[in-house]
Formats: sequence, C-alpha cells, structure tokens
Amino acid sequence: MTTSGLFISFEGIDGAGKSTHIDGLAQAFRAQGRAVTLTREPGGTPLAEKLRTLVLNDPMDAMTEALLVFAARRDHLLTVIEPALSRGEVVLCDRFTDATFAYQGAGRGFNLQMLMILEHWVQALPALGEHFIRQPDLTVWFDLPAEIAAQRLAGARVPDKFESQPVEFFKRVSSGYLARMSGEPERFARINAENTREGVWLDVFNAIKTRGWLG
Ligand code: TMP
Repeated sequence: MTTSGLFISFEGIDGAGKSTHIDGLAQAFRAQGRAVTLTREPGGTPLAEKLRTLVLNDPMDAMTEALLVFAARRDHLLTVIEPALSRGEVVLCDRFTDATFAYQGAGRGFNLQMLMILEHWVQALPALGEHFIRQPDLTVWFDLPAEIAAQRLAGARVPDKFESQPVEFFKRVSSGYLARMSGEPERFARINAENTREGVWLDVFNAIKTRGWLG
C-alpha cells in the first residue's frame, strides 16, 4: 500500500450525499495509520472560507464566480493541500476543479476555454515541473439524477444560492461532470448514488481499495 501523499476529491450535484462517505473514508484511512486532511472547496483556509461565503450567497455573474473559486483554490492549494501532500498525508477534498467546470461551465454556461486557462495557471506549481498541474489522484463522483437530489434536498435546510437552482440547472451540472469524466476516465470513479447508503459506501470503499490505497 502506498504511503506517499494521496489527493482524493469528491464531486456531485447538491443533495448527492457525499458528506457521510467522506467522513467514513477519513476514519478508514486513520484506522490504517494514515494522517488525513479533511477539507473542502470553496474553502479550507480562512481566506478561502471568506470567498466561499461570498460565492454561495451574493449574486454575481459566472466569470466573477469562476475567478473567486479559483482564487480560493490557489490559497487552499498553497497553504493546505500541497503541504499536506508533502507530509505524505491523505487529502480528502469535498469538491475541487471539476465542480467549477460543472457549475460555472456547464451550469452557468461560462466559457470552458477560459476555465481551462485558469485551471492551468492556478494548479501549476514549481514542484510539479513545467508540464504538470496538480489534479486529484482520484475523483469520486456521486452520480444522482437531478430530480432525486431535489427531493432529498427539499426542506432539509435553508437553500443557498446554488441549492435553490431549478432541476434543469443540476441536469446541466451533471452533464458537466460527465464531460470531465469522459476527458479523463482513469481519474474518476463514478458511483451510483441512487443506491442505498450501505451500497454507496461499499462502492466508494471498493474504488479506493481496488487502487491499493486501503487494505
Ligand atoms: P457544498 O460544500 O455544500 O457542496 O457547496 C458548495 C457549493 O459551491 C455547491 O453548490 C457547488 C458550488 N461550487 C461551485 O459553484 N464552483 C466550484 O468551483 C466549487 C468548488 C463549488
């Protein structure tokens, strides 16, 4: 089993049910003696959490949203993710750049070329060399039909700016995730999030186990 740093991101439309499984994986890794950094985007640092509050609550156009989430990501990468990976930790990150392509790109219709440029600027790091950018080693995509996610979310809490979007928006977000997965299939594990909670957990656990990262 690998003991070098491991970067795993978790994605899906709002209501797809990522949180309990991320916590479960943190416990599973810790039980095997690994140090785990549990974090999220937008957020994960004091500055990025301030940007998160703006992005989730204030009306703004898609470009402003994209610039703010990438600014938050840059701070998060430099101050939390990269240091944890160099210490050999497992970084479990609730959302990363695929969310920007899915929400701002597919959901809001913002220019994908510009997102690719931002991705390359923000995720390029001297330690990785000229031709590489930081990407998750694995992205676990909780795939759930938008109608079911909407039912699950209904009445659960006061919805933020994204959670209050119509089902059509989330259908576009899902198609954005699918497009990202099609471009890099080996980086993704697509989980059928319609399954029971136990079934989803088993699939998530196996996605990590088959890669030799959990015993
Ligand atoms: P969550 O932490 O509850 O998943 O909420 C984060 C929200 O922010 C979610 O609705 C998706 C949205 N988001 C974007 O629109 N773009 C991004 O790049 C990221 C990371 C999240």
